[in-house]
Amino acid sequence: MSTGHRDVVVAGLADLRERERVVVEVDGLELGVYLHAGEVRAWHNVCPHQGGPVCQGKIMPRTIQPLRDDRKSAGPAFHPADRNIVCPWHGFEFDILTGRHPAHSGVGLRPIPVRVEGDEVIVTI
Ligand code: FES
Repeated sequence: MSTGHRDVVVAGLADLRERERVVVEVDGLELGVYLHAGEVRAWHNVCPHQGGPVCQGKIMPRTIQPLRDDRKSAGPAFHPADRNIVCPWHGFEFDILTGRHPAHSGVGLRPIPVRVEGDEVIVTI
């Protein structure tokens, strides 16, 4: 019996390496496909805040606040590896790899199953 799901090639891995993110439409469904730290993720292009096109937002390093040895703030800095997607409508941020909002663990992007086979990036919708 068919589950109604199907696989769709949405990008080449080489293209994703170069651009880090592509936003595509499949059967009227918009999604963002990301490559970060060797991992591929696909998210619905709908922000959980008010429905903005979150995947068209900038990719930014996560902001951190390191402490000095005396445990006082050393001022704001960027995390060396973590990257967030910044929604273009109101600036909510979401971790590229987990889809989670950094301060509200219950708020996040909706995932789409994605995998790489050879040079093809394939989503299941
Ligand atoms: S719709 Fe994305 S931050 Fe408001």
